[in-house]
Amino acid sequence: MTIEIRNTIRFLLNDRLVELAGVSPVQTLLDFLRIDRNLRGTKEGCAEGDCGACTVLVGRLYDGRLTYESVNACIRFVASLDGCHVVTVEALATPNGPLHPVQQAMVDTHASQCGFCTPGFVMSLYGLWMENPRPSVQEIEKALQGNLCRCTGYAAIIRAAEAISSIGEVGTDPLVLEREKITRQLVSLRDGRRIDIGGEEERVVLPASLDDFAAVLEANPEATIVAGSTDVGLWVTKFMRDIAPVIHLSHLDELRRISVGADAITLAAGVSYTDAYPVIVRHFPQLRELWDRIGGAQVRNMGTVGGNIANGSPIGDTPPALIALGASVTLRKGGRRRTLPLEAFFIAYGRQDREPGEFVESVRIPFLGEADRFAVYKVSKRLDEDISSVCGAFRVTLDGEGKVAGATIAFGGMAATPKRATNVEAALKRQRWTSATIETAVGIFEEDYTPLTDWRASADYRMLVAKNLLRRFHLETQEIRNVRIDRAVAVAV
Ligand SMILES: Cc1cc2nc3c(=O)[nH]c(=O)nc-3n(C[C@H](O)[C@H](O)[C@H](O)COP(=O)(O)OP(=O)(O)OC[C@H]3O[C@@H](n4cnc5c(N)ncnc54)[C@H](O)[C@@H]3O)c2cc1C
Ligand code: FES
Ligand code: FES
Repeated sequence: MTIEIRNTIRFLLNDRLVELAGVSPVQTLLDFLRIDRNLRGTKEGCAEGDCGACTVLVGRLYDGRLTYESVNACIRFVASLDGCHVVTVEALATPNGPLHPVQQAMVDTHASQCGFCTPGFVMSLYGLWMENPRPSVQEIEKALQGNLCRCTGYAAIIRAAEAISSIGEVGTDPLVLEREKITRQLVSLRDGRRIDIGGEEERVVLPASLDDFAAVLEANPEATIVAGSTDVGLWVTKFMRDIAPVIHLSHLDELRRISVGADAITLAAGVSYTDAYPVIVRHFPQLRELWDRIGGAQVRNMGTVGGNIANGSPIGDTPPALIALGASVTLRKGGRRRTLPLEAFFIAYGRQDREPGEFVESVRIPFLGEADRFAVYKVSKRLDEDISSVCGAFRVTLDGEGKVAGATIAFGGMAATPKRATNVEAALKRQRWTSATIETAVGIFEEDYTPLTDWRASADYRMLVAKNLLRRFHLETQEIRNVRIDRAVAVAV
């Protein structure tokens, strides 16, 4: 089949159509806004997705529906925006016009001092207000996990978030009123072509379909795959890496599919944390807290589960949980697919079982059985928007006599890869689920892990946390009703 090719990137920026013939593979949206378009309302703080000063909204179509999400412009590549609507703080109020209700609320509640973080907060709150005009404090805090303010303090900003709907009606907001018109514009931008721009050294490809992606990658196995760019973005902004040629997955609706079967859910590799959230929480409520603590809202809107697996990080948050759940990963190269247990994908630090030209297509997560008990614990220095020092996931199956029929335990942060504690598991099997069994098992962790000391935590601390998490899991999964579990989050020292 002949694939038609387009050599430009087209997207809406506020109320204008942008068409770019030349886009560097490393050009970020933030640089484009500030340098090329002189839109300086969007600020640069950290350039690594942490502070939220660069927050803008990106509207994207999926199955004909347009949704707006907050994203970090500093780590979002311009080329990935083809077919999207970028909304910056400049769209909210014209220089001589009235303030937008979100901005007015920030003024009324004294929620800004130096003002550097303010446009980012405004855009995060704008995105929240459009979806949820009367959010609870908890929902506001969740939407603002990825925005830092060093001077005002958050109480005033939360008051602003609560006040927005008393100032303006969300139904009269331009982005809500014009949703259908913008949807039509975006639909007209999606012509189903492969986008291929730049010469040898600057090549950027947005494949037209999943099959097209498989073919392009097989022909260009050295290419950098970019999904949400919440890892790859930092290779560019922090390490100045040359990532060309680049293949963006942002056009591939097939990689955003979630299927719920009789005994498992399957997430295509390009499903973002935000899109996966309702299904994950419905079928695995034990994963809610973990999911809520992956990055901030902007990172969860962009980042994908497939990227979290494919990056092979020893401290990625989803692999321990998915390994404990018995997940398998499907890899594809050209037209050939193979499926392997997720744990087998991680071979050594920086090395995964993935051939050149092969990509992660999906991950299948089996449901828990009636007799399964499951929990996952993330331990990090900060509660929000922090990488794990240790992340432990536990699943035990108890038989009718209260003995352990099966145990799967996996940790991040304890080895060079996400890794199972097979010796601890063996010590639990066929034993009664009692404190005595647990105390025997914790003595065996040293046979499974030799953790490192780094700036996140010492080796001794990591080992102690791993042992205590098993004790905690045991306490939380007993039938005893009066045990009070301290749910305070451990803080690494
Ligand atoms: C501020 C911030 C906070 C973060 N917090 C957390 C956190 O709390 N927990 C956590 O685990 N991570 C965290 N991360 C890391 C990151 O968000 C996750 O690892 C995320 O899942 C990466 O997904 P992505 O789609 O953005 O990947 P990308 O950056 O696009 O890609 C990551 C890697 O995977 C490869 N890749 C992507 N998709 C595929 C595919 N389908 N097949 C083969 N290779 C592929 C890329 O080539 C690259 O090597 C954070 C990052 C930032 C910037
Ligand atoms: S500049 Fe800090 S998140 Fe983008
Ligand atoms: S108002 Fe100064 S950083 Fe927030």
